[in-house]
Parts: sequence; C-alpha cells; structure tokens
Amino acid sequence: MVTLQDIRQNEDIKALIRAGNRYLEACGYTDHGPRHVSYVSKTAAYILKALGYSPREVELAAIAGWVHDVGNSVNRHDHGPNGAVILLPILRETGMDMNDVMEIITAVGNHEEQSGFISSAVSAALVLGDKSDAHKTRVRHGRPDPTDVHDRVNFSIQENEVTVDRKARIIRHELTMDETSSVMEYLQIYMSRIVMCEQAAAFLKCSFDLVINGRPVNNRPRPEKDAT
Ligand SMILES: [Fe+2]
Ligand SMILES: [Fe+2]
Repeated sequence: MVTLQDIRQNEDIKALIRAGNRYLEACGYTDHGPRHVSYVSKTAAYILKALGYSPREVELAAIAGWVHDVGNSVNRHDHGPNGAVILLPILRETGMDMNDVMEIITAVGNHEEQSGFISSAVSAALVLGDKSDAHKTRVRHGRPDPTDVHDRVNFSIQENEVTVDRKARIIRHELTMDETSSVMEYLQIYMSRIVMCEQAAAFLKCSFDLVINGRPVNNRPRPEKDAT
C-alpha cells in the first residue's frame, strides 16, 4: 500500500503544496503549508485510530490530510473539488490502488464547509483535522496583523488539542486563548467550521465537544441523560 511517507516525498505534491501556500500568503491567509497539512494529517489519522478504524483507513486519512489543500494552487474558490481533480492522476501514478485514490479524492473534494458533504470515515476525519487547526503558530512569520481577525484569533490560541474518548464516543476540541482575541471572535470566523465538525463527529457516531478556556461552548444534553 502507498503510505503517507511515499506521498510526502512525491515531488509533484510538494510543488502543489508550495504553490497553494504561496498563493494563499499573497491573499493574506494564515499558513497552509507543511505545518498545516502535517497537523491535519496527524489529527485525522489519530481520530480514526483512536476510534478503532482499520489501518488502511487510518493511512488514507493521513494521506488525505497531507494533500487536502493542493487545490489552492488553482484558486481559493472551490479548492476542494479542484484539488480532487488534480490529485487523481498524480495519486494513480504513485501506484496507489484506485479504490484508495477514490477514498482520498472524495474526502478532499468535500472538505470545504461551503459545499462539502461527509460520506465516509476518511472524509469525516479530514474535516475534523482541518477545521480544528487554529493556533498562534499558524500566523505567518509570527507577526499578526492586528486588523485581521483571522490573525488575531489564531495568535491568541496558545494551546490546541483534539482528543478522542472512544468509550464515551466524544471527540473533544480544547483551546486555550489569551486576550489578544475573544471567544466571540473565534465563533464569528469558525461557526460554520464548528457546525461541520459536529456533522463529521456525528458521522463517526460521536459528539463533538468544543471547549474554550475550560468552558464548554456547544454543550447540549447527552442522549443518555435525556433517557433518564
Ligand atoms: Fe482547505
Ligand atoms: Fe486546510
């Protein structure tokens, strides 16, 4: 089976990630380079592993995380579907099994909150990995633009952790923010991504708990408590 290690060493994919990240830097976006895709890859794989999915699905989630943003080399708009189309021949050329290629391109083509629909575990894990990446190290060159809300929010995030409680079926996203920004600003720019994380967790038969500075943000009664 083609592994994440093979994909990371692929020169075409390296060039695509570089081009997408360079384009988004020019547009004023936070990091979308190796730092971002490495976080997404690790987090997506961790979630499926922790939930007991097969080694194949764990590896495919890791690969999907690494390649998910290559469509930004074309345009920010529709970068999910564009990336999927670009990746098909490149992944095929690596010798990857066509069914594995399909898993990855469906996930990549559906990771944007504007048009994405979650139809597989790999797709759900990719969304949770991608939408949970907010941290001060994502601000480019360590110099936030105080007039840019994305820079302010990311720069205020000191700690960011996704954990899985397999038994309780909870995927927990915990953030620690300082006063450079506020929970209000986080919600302002991440609301549709939080909703997509809830959908992704639901696909994996889990709830998604967002906790900021020790406080639950999207808490709701648990089904088992309703029943009592
Ligand atoms: Fe993306
Ligand atoms: Fe991304």
